[in-house]
Formats: sequence, C-alpha cells, structure tokens
Amino acid sequence: MSQSSAWIAMEKQYYAQTVRRQPVVLVRGQGCRVWDADGKEYLDLVAGWAVNNLGHAHPVVTHAVAEQAATLVQTSNQFYTVPQLLLAQLLIEHSCLDRVFFGNSGAEANEGALKLARKYGKQRQDGAYEVITAANSFHGRTLATLAATGQSHYQEAFVPLLPGFVHVPYNDVEAIIQATTDSTAAVMLEPVQGEGGVNIPDPDYLQRVRAWCDRQGLLLILDEIQTGMGRLGSLFGYQEYGVEPDVMTLAKGLGYGVPIGAFLAKEGCMALEPGDHGSTFGGNALTTAAAYAGTQYLIDHDIPAHVKRMETYLLTHLQALRGQFACVAAVRGKGLLAAMEFDSDIAGRVVTYANEAGVLLNAVRPNTIRFMPPLTITVEEIDEAAGRLEEALKHL
Ligand SMILES: Cc1ncc(COP(=O)(O)O)c(C=O)c1O
Repeated sequence: MSQSSAWIAMEKQYYAQTVRRQPVVLVRGQGCRVWDADGKEYLDLVAGWAVNNLGHAHPVVTHAVAEQAATLVQTSNQFYTVPQLLLAQLLIEHSCLDRVFFGNSGAEANEGALKLARKYGKQRQDGAYEVITAANSFHGRTLATLAATGQSHYQEAFVPLLPGFVHVPYNDVEAIIQATTDSTAAVMLEPVQGEGGVNIPDPDYLQRVRAWCDRQGLLLILDEIQTGMGRLGSLFGYQEYGVEPDVMTLAKGLGYGVPIGAFLAKEGCMALEPGDHGSTFGGNALTTAAAYAGTQYLIDHDIPAHVKRMETYLLTHLQALRGQFACVAAVRGKGLLAAMEFDSDIAGRVVTYANEAGVLLNAVRPNTIRFMPPLTITVEEIDEAAGRLEEALKHL
C-alpha cells in the first residue's frame, strides 16, 4: 500500500464525508509546485482554491507567520493589536473603501456584509431588507450566504432558507431593474463568477448596475472573495470595470494560505455600530500579520501587472489546446482565473488524467475545468502545465 493510500483510508474512516476529494495527499509545497506523500511532484493550478496567490511557502509569508507565532497570536478583539491595524490601513489606503472588519472566511465576510445591508435598510431605506443576487453565484455555505447563492443544488437539503434574497440572471441589468421593489436594500454580485464556471460579464455590466443602485439608493456589494487581491489583474476586480462598490468582501487570496476574511465599506454605508458584530478569532495577530506581509509584497512587486501578462500567455496556450482537441468547446478567462469548457461532462475524467500527468486542476462544473494558479506563476511553468494538460487530454 502506498503512503497516499494509507492516508486516504484514514480519511474514509474518520472524516465527515462531505467533500469529494482527489486521491492526492499533499505534504509539501514550494511556489507553484506541490508534492504528495509518495514523492510525486505536481504543478498546482488550484492554489488552495484561489488562495495561495504568492504560491506555497513564499518566504515573506513564512517569515511573517513564524515571527508572529513566536510573538503574539491571539488576544481577542477586546484589545488592539498592531498587525490588524497595519493590514486595515493598507487595505483602506489601496481601495475605495473607508472601513474594514476582519473575520475568518469568505462566508463570514459575506455574512457581515449582509448584516450591514439589513441594518442599513432598517435605518436608511424604510426597512428594506432584500438583496438581489445572481443565478450561478456562489457566496458561501452558511445559512445566509447559502440563501444568497444562486445555485439550488447547494440549497435543496437545507430548506427553508433565510428569506430576503431574490435571484436574477447574471450579466442582465434589466433583470435587476425588474426585480427591484421597495423592499430592496442591496445588489450583491461577483465581478467575475468563479464557482459558477468563470462567467465574465460584459464590460459595462457593473457600471450599469452601479448607475441603477445610485438611482434607487441601493447598496452595491461586490463579493471579491475570489476576484480580489490581484486575481483579475488589478488589486481588486472592481478596478477592472471602472466602478466603486459601497461594500466589498475579501477572503481567499487575502491570507496567502492563512484563514482570513474581511468586509469593507464606504464611511457613509458602515451602518454597523458597537455591539452589532464581532468575532473571537477575526483579525487576530497571526492571520493579519501574514495577510499584511503578503499584501505589501503583492503591491510592492506589482503582481497584478504580472497577472495581466500571464493572462494572455495562459489563454494562448488554452486556445491552442482547443484547436488541437475537438472535445474542448470553449476557453475563457480574465487575469489568472480561467476555464476550459468541454462538449460533454468529462471534467472529472480530465482532472483524473491531469493528476496522473502531474498538474492539479479543479472541475468547477461537470463539463468545465478551472485554472486559478498562484499569481506568481512563470511562463516556463505555464508551458509545462499546458504540456501536462495536453498529455491528459490525449488520454480521453
Ligand atoms: C465568490 C465567493 N464568495 C464566497 C465564498 C465562500 O468562501 P469560504 O469558502 O471561505 O467561506 C467563495 C468560495 O469559493 C467564493 O468563491
């Protein structure tokens, strides 16, 4: 029995069987590469689900974690800590938002944003509480974010859902206009839908939504949990579309591997007051020190500009594979968030063959694989990953 098989057997025995995992037990990572328990090396184009934006074991993040772990990890938010304040300042000074609250995950960040919208509606919109979100959106697995998510297969086992959410087709401003009522408090959207299959809206979609929100006095909440922190080629996705949100949520790439989430709001929209919200671990010294170090590096080294260069390079490779293999129906992407769609539901098989060929990918839909590599990926690594994917596609 291989080392990996033994660990997989242990998972089957002890772990809640909620996740369909790949049969790969990862024990080490460095940059864009990871190694399994039997010593096999892979190029990692999953990156912890769009989390490891600087790759694995980046020295800046490793150093920040080690130093902070040896200094001060957790204090409770009853007290001030310096890394939390430095990260808050960095994010606010580099975004259009004015205030930030730190939590521990994407779902929690969105929960905070949704609570903010409810309070804002109560105080300033005559009790409006509904939030319009998009079909195929993904906002998390807690009860409120599940209700916000526009994919019924995640919801069916957990009805009745929290009321107050209206779903409309994505990339359809008219549908938002039609769905708006006196009860509408906010519109919540992803700048590019990630879990929904990498759905890229028309260039003017968010601007037109922004204009409608302004006209109606609605909050525009952008869920940048997957698109933020350089993923689309700007520090924040909204910068790619020439709009400013009233509220923005972050997680994933913000932590460079450590668990952290955040919601940010414009001063005039931060309706939450003392006692309205809190978190034991949220924004603790360890996670914020890692997030601060990683974000400072991302900004200082203009990683978003590198992402823009690598976007063209990656998409050119994927288009070439589309020309080579008839089963590839479409290729799309923005920044380093890309998808390859097939003409049938073979994404699972492609991922299995890709594992064997030494490249880790994500089957985001039954017929679609998603690419979300570390933002530091190089042209050589893209060449190599594309070669391994080609090998995998030949097996079909
Ligand atoms: C856009 C978006 N929002 C929210 C979430 C939920 O984040 P988490 O899994 O950290 O709760 C995700 C996770 O994939 C996401 O992609």
